[in-house]
Amino acid sequence: MEIFFQICLVILSFSSFSHCLDNGLALSPPMGWLAWQRFRCNTDCVNDPKHCISERLFMEMADLLVSEGYAKAGYNLISLDDCWLDKVRDSDGRLKADPIRFPSGIPALSDYIHSRGLRFGIYEDYGNYTCAGYPGILNNMKLDAQTFADWKVDYVKLDGCYSFPSQMDKGYPEFGYYLNRTGRSMIYSCSWPFYQLVTKMEPDYATISKTCNLWRNFEDIQDSWQSVTSIIDYYGDNQDTLIPLAGPGHWNDPDMLIIGNFGLSYEQSRAQMCMWAIMASPLLMSVDLRTIRPEFKAILLNTEIIAVNQDPLGVQGRRVYKKQGIEIWTKPVLPKSGQLYSWAIVVLNRRVDGTPSQVTVPLRELGLDSGDGYHVRELNEHKDVGIISPDQAIQVDVNPSGVVMLKCTIIRVPPFIP
Ligand SMILES: *[C@@H]1O[C@H](CO)[C@@H](O)[C@H](O)[C@H]1NC(C)=O
Ligand SMILES: *[C@@H]1O[C@H](CO)[C@@H](O)[C@H](O)[C@H]1NC(C)=O
Repeated sequence: MEIFFQICLVILSFSSFSHCLDNGLALSPPMGWLAWQRFRCNTDCVNDPKHCISERLFMEMADLLVSEGYAKAGYNLISLDDCWLDKVRDSDGRLKADPIRFPSGIPALSDYIHSRGLRFGIYEDYGNYTCAGYPGILNNMKLDAQTFADWKVDYVKLDGCYSFPSQMDKGYPEFGYYLNRTGRSMIYSCSWPFYQLVTKMEPDYATISKTCNLWRNFEDIQDSWQSVTSIIDYYGDNQDTLIPLAGPGHWNDPDMLIIGNFGLSYEQSRAQMCMWAIMASPLLMSVDLRTIRPEFKAILLNTEIIAVNQDPLGVQGRRVYKKQGIEIWTKPVLPKSGQLYSWAIVVLNRRVDGTPSQVTVPLRELGLDSGDGYHVRELNEHKDVGIISPDQAIQVDVNPSGVVMLKCTIIRVPPFIP
């Protein structure tokens, strides 16, 4: 099938929100490894010692992050999620880890992860309990922020179960204040807008982006293509609200990468990687790095696609075309020259016809109008397409539930500022 189209309006302004959290962190979308999607709340270390939430799991993942080249590609965070805690606080009221599954304690695990050159992330909940029923931080915020600083935590994910969404506008900033007052730099990941949206509240995004480095807007990702596409739809349908919020230091978070698990095919895995990259989303893998198949590992380690995600401009991509199962998303990236930008383009095929769709990508209609043309490269296959002028159209074949990702780099005669 051949698809031609016209794009009537391309919005070219992408000025970012001013007044955002200025803790100097997360200037590009955070990258790393998070336990939840793959390992959930498996606490059965007697029968399933390899997969239970334990210090052993995090130490093994830290080792592999380094030895398998993920850290070098930018995945520099190892983060706990729910179910690391003991059911009770210690005699001084401090949080403590489950003593059976974390016999060395959190400070030792933090040291281990730091000794590998990685950052250490922790999970808690603004509420009476975490989602799985472990102690929450409500009424202990100052002490818990200090405990995290004492443990040399670098990243805090704060969930929102067992709390009132109406109190989050006060509670999330309050915990952010206590984190800041410890003097330790900690990336602050908030679930605040998501919990408000599910109770039909309108999130106060001005305050959220002043408080958090990243925030969840939508449902937890599940291990399926249906879940991935529902997330893509949410960010596309709400892009006029969400794109202006994103920028260096503050990001929308559509949840973890599920690449390498059970639910996505090879094409769908490429699609998630390219879509998360163009949406300037945090790249938080949740996969068993001990058993991941090499073709999925290669997707996660595609440095050209990672570079689009980590681009210093920090602009979240926009869905500029959606028709007959074909979507086109664009994101301005460096290098730029004056008002002329380079661009990343993802063509996403959600059709299920069973044969690749041939799509025509018309550069000028997409807003790529540099008179000197673009050097165009396909980033999944690492192949040069050639030098293309704005009035030429690029034809691509996009596999069912797959993607083509192009990087269009401006060509400038000197002076050229990279
Ligand atoms: C605390 O907040 C101030 C003001 O926003 C900021 O300049 C500083 O970097 C923050 N410190 C930490 C440790 O986050
Ligand atoms: C948290 O616990 C307090 C004290 O027991 C209670 O008043 C409050 O309603 C609880 N919050 C939620 C969201 O259940």
